[in-house]
Amino acid sequence: PQQKTLAVIKPDAMEQHRESILEEIHGRGFSVTQLKEMVLSREMAEEIYKEHKEKPFFDQLVEFMCRGPCLMLILTKENAVEEWRDMMGPTDPDQAKVTSPNSLRARFASDILHNSVHGSSNEQHAKEKIQFIFGDISSDAELEGD
Ligand code: CMP
Repeated sequence: PQQKTLAVIKPDAMEQHRESILEEIHGRGFSVTQLKEMVLSREMAEEIYKEHKEKPFFDQLVEFMCRGPCLMLILTKENAVEEWRDMMGPTDPDQAKVTSPNSLRARFASDILHNSVHGSSNEQHAKEKIQFIFGDISSDAELEGD
């Protein structure tokens, strides 16, 4: 079955790497179901990352995510959540360079905070964040009568 995930190209990667990342997304067989470029408000960034609220890096993270445009994407593919996480590689690019040198973060990220891309960590988060960012356009619930 097809699965959806939320992918984000973060502000640090927008100028230099956006096109390469999009090409690789298509090359890996994902469908880009929805795509939206936006500058996140503080409130939006806080909501997207609410699971990290207690982390010491939360404020830095929110600030960074608001500093310029992001590209928000809904990616559709079988096993999309895991496949996109695999494409991104580990959170920390220093680790990514060792364990997954072909991953996006190994090649494009500068450090653990400025790590170029985001992806939902599981299907439940994917559904919530997609609903939050894209609203009803993308809601499968409606189509399924749920
Ligand atoms: P992401 O996968 O989008 O999810 C949470 C984000 O917090 C992560 O990517 C990084 O941008 C950031 N992050 C995670 N761990 C750290 C850390 N130890 N220090 C600074 N930023 C971090």
